[in-house]
Amino acid sequence: MQHLIAPSLLSADFARLGEELRRAEDAGADWHHVDVMDGHFVPNLTIGPPVVESLARAATRPLDVHLMITDPWQYADAFLDAGAAGLTFHAEVFGNGDVGALIAQIQARGKRAGVVVNPATPLAPILPWLDAVDMVLIMSVVPGFGGQSFMGEVLDKVRALRGEHGFTKDIEMDGGISRDTVGECAEAGCNVFVAGSALFGAEDMAAEIGLFREKIGAGHPR
Ligand code: DX5
Ligand code: ZN
Repeated sequence: MQHLIAPSLLSADFARLGEELRRAEDAGADWHHVDVMDGHFVPNLTIGPPVVESLARAATRPLDVHLMITDPWQYADAFLDAGAAGLTFHAEVFGNGDVGALIAQIQARGKRAGVVVNPATPLAPILPWLDAVDMVLIMSVVPGFGGQSFMGEVLDKVRALRGEHGFTKDIEMDGGISRDTVGECAEAGCNVFVAGSALFGAEDMAAEIGLFREKIGAGHPR
C-alpha cells in the first residue's frame, strides 16, 4: 500500500501560500492537506473556495480538502469547482443530509470522497459507508487547531478498520503527527499522514519528510 505524506497548509504562512506550496512540493509532499473550517462545526475559520482555487492553480500535487463544516452538502460543489482532488466530511454532521448522495456526488465528478471521525466518535456511523468511500480519515486531535498533542487511543479504530472490518482502502490520520508518532500510525495501518506544525515548522522540511518515511518503514514507491 502506498504511503502518502500530506503537509497541512494550516501551519503555513498564509501571506506566502504559493511559496509554502512550493516548499512542500520540493520537500517531497505527496498531497496538500487543506483544512476548511466554518466557525460553526469548529470554533475556527480558515480557508474558503476562492483560496482553494488559487492553491489549485499553483499546486502540482492533489489538494486533499478536509471539510470541518456543518453543511458539506451546501459547499461540496464549490470546493470541487475550485479544484479539490478529494473531499472529506465528518460523521458528526451525517444527520444534516444524505450521506450516500454526497459521496456519489463527489465521485461522479471523478474526485475522491472520504469520511472523518473525531476522536470521541466511534466507527459505527461510518461502517455503512466503507464500501462507498475512497478513504477514511481518523482524527487524532479534536479538530479546530494545529499544534495539538497526538491522541494515541484513536489507533484502536485504525486497527479495527484493518482487522475486523477488512478495510483495504486509504486510512488517513490527522492531528499531532510528528517524527515521534508517525511510526505507530503506520504500524496500526494508516497509510496517509497529515502533518502541519511538524512539517511547516521544520527548518528542513525535506529532511523531516525523509525522517517520516524512515519511521513509516516502508520503501516509498515514488
Ligand atoms: C486540525 C486539522 C489538522 C491540523 C493538523 O483541526 O484538521 O489538519 O492542521 O495540525 P498538526 O499536525 O499541527 O496537529
Ligand atoms: Zn485536517
